[in-house]
Amino acid sequence: MANEPGAERLESTMWALRVRVEDGLERVRYERVPLPSPGIGDVLLKVHAASFTPTELGWPSTWADRAGNARTAPIPAHEVSGVVAALGYGTTGLAVGDEAYGLTDWYRDGAAAGYVAVEARNLARKPGSLDHARSAAVPLAALTAWQALFDHAHLSAGQSVLIHGAGGGVGALAVQLARGAGARVVATGRQWAEGLVRELGADEFVDTERRSFEETAGEVDVVFDLVGGEVTGRSWAVIRPGGMLVSVVAPLAETGPRGASGVFFVVEPDRAALTELARLIDAGELRPVVGEVYPLERGREAFEAKRRPGVPGKVVLRVAR
Ligand SMILES: NC(=O)c1ccc[n+]([C@@H]2O[C@H](COP(=O)([O-])OP(=O)(O)OC[C@H]3O[C@@H](n4cnc5c(N)ncnc54)[C@H](OP(=O)(O)O)[C@@H]3O)[C@@H](O)[C@H]2O)c1
Repeated sequence: MANEPGAERLESTMWALRVRVEDGLERVRYERVPLPSPGIGDVLLKVHAASFTPTELGWPSTWADRAGNARTAPIPAHEVSGVVAALGYGTTGLAVGDEAYGLTDWYRDGAAAGYVAVEARNLARKPGSLDHARSAAVPLAALTAWQALFDHAHLSAGQSVLIHGAGGGVGALAVQLARGAGARVVATGRQWAEGLVRELGADEFVDTERRSFEETAGEVDVVFDLVGGEVTGRSWAVIRPGGMLVSVVAPLAETGPRGASGVFFVVEPDRAALTELARLIDAGELRPVVGEVYPLERGREAFEAKRRPGVPGKVVLRVAR
């Protein structure tokens, strides 16, 4: 590891959350672990705050590396905001002391820790107007929404989009990005989410426990599905001829009725998009929604909290004070 002049002196161990499967259940524990070493093109980021996706503990990438080798006690949470502490061999684009945020590789240890080793290309300068806790709530959620709406669905001004699960981590950002692009936004959620998603810019809200979206949404150009299950299959009925159904929950049919198409994808790190998202945030055009913040040592509670219904936006882990 190339320690830069002025870099802080690093200890050899750090506090982290690690996940183990015990009695068939994923258990999150707060433990002392070795400090990671940044590889070629990596930075070692001192983590100030991290966030996670509630379902990530069950994903295959949490339990195997890219070569398929088992990972026995992985560190979760792949959205991070922090300060560059050291550079790996040949790393460019960031310097020691820079404040950065980004989405880390699912197959490597995540950011629920004092430090994380992460490819510099997966990071960008953090939004200057946000503290680290709110900055950590952005990368995965905003990149997922951005890639769904613009890279896959090519949503444009004057079109309409139905966003299922609009009060959650991804949905709260998707509503704002779609509205900012000039689209008409119909949002679904449970009743608690109505005030939030209307404030974020939704033109219509469907409380799915009281009304069916098929009866109330009308026809839309794009459906962005953050709920899955039977909601995915039912969504084809509200898509205009030639429109698109985008899901990040589970693979779906590539073609639907009346020339509609379906896309499932997994979000990719993207420095250029993160830089543009930071610009939108600093311009006051986009804001993350943080439902709850937990200190790292209460990480288990944080994961449990986000599994319960009714938490708006993201749950964040505060690591450094
Ligand atoms: N493929 C990828 O790259 C990728 C990336 C990010 C996320 N994801 C997936 O996308 C999904 C959403 O992620 P997230 O982080 O936004 O999760 P989240 O914060 O839990 O948001 C999901 C939202 O959907 C709401 N909801 C649940 N059932 C509903 C229903 N029947 N009708 C309307 N709303 C409903 C939830 O409300 P309650 O709180 O009331 O239940 C919650 O607000 C997850 O399955 C996640 O794994 C995939």
